[in-house]
Amino acid sequence: MPPSTITPERQAYEAMLATLSEGSVHVHFDPYEDIAWDAPELAIDPHDARWVLSPTVDPLGATAWYRAQPLERQVEIGRARMMNTMKVGAAFESMLIRGLMQYAFALPHGSPEFRYCMHEMTEECNHIQMFMELVHRTDVEVPGMRKRLRRVSPWLAGVLATRPVLLMVAILAGEEPIDHYQKALLREGGHLPPAVLRTMEIHIAEEARHISFADEFVKLRAPRLPRGQRLALSLLFPVVMRTAAEEIMTPPRALARRLGIPPEVFAEAFWDSPASRRIMASYFGEMRTLAAEAGLMNRMSARVWRWCGVAGEPARYRGEPDRRAEVVA
Ligand SMILES: [Fe+2]
Ligand SMILES: [Fe+2]
Repeated sequence: MPPSTITPERQAYEAMLATLSEGSVHVHFDPYEDIAWDAPELAIDPHDARWVLSPTVDPLGATAWYRAQPLERQVEIGRARMMNTMKVGAAFESMLIRGLMQYAFALPHGSPEFRYCMHEMTEECNHIQMFMELVHRTDVEVPGMRKRLRRVSPWLAGVLATRPVLLMVAILAGEEPIDHYQKALLREGGHLPPAVLRTMEIHIAEEARHISFADEFVKLRAPRLPRGQRLALSLLFPVVMRTAAEEIMTPPRALARRLGIPPEVFAEAFWDSPASRRIMASYFGEMRTLAAEAGLMNRMSARVWRWCGVAGEPARYRGEPDRRAEVVA
């Protein structure tokens, strides 16, 4: 874009990209340099009581059935549940990398997004390695993603890359639930096995940049989309959020069966009970704020947010603890 046509918003956006890129250069983590995997304090103890799922943050941990299990069973289920979420997270990051790579190489010469996208993908590769190292060291065999999504994942992000604003919404939909889940656990005091805690701290620190980028991208571009596309995006936004959160947070049924979770408890946790619905809605406070700021909240889309069970108050600031998420009956 010639300098004379650069708007102040565009200028601020480009400055933000430069700041994020600098941030990636100066504050970044390597999964093997920055995590002392072999240190005794990070040794993974399969019987550690800190594998027990949180009753407020985890929808399965919130069920009366889970709380009534002997400690040993709570530990066994918690360990598999947490590692499955890590493995799904890694698979989502691989989709994100595919989408961003395709997007970045379709950009015109000199686009300021190119450099930052490369930094982000490097970080996501590190996250995949970090999560998978943890899963391997925990030595619990978990399937990860549910089958249906696993089948379409190799090409889905590539298709989304042809609609960059939708791609960024999808990226946020993958990042927000994990970021929220991890932040909420840390806020509760981080009663987690030390190796899990360390990976979460690193992940939260780097995700902040990724989320800022996608947020600003959507804020800049969504209002400039043609009207029909903008309306379609406003309706798809909550659907994408709900779908991604479900895929990330719901373990495959085969795993639930293997762990002996009764079908009615599985249904209650994912996502029939008021407690689990509240948790689902709580993932998206910042996304409700973003949708409003990007002109993607209207009467029709607000209804879709409610149908999808992701409605509630918008967050007043990034990282606001869940106080007011609406329970959708
Ligand atoms: Fe990540
Ligand atoms: Fe990310």
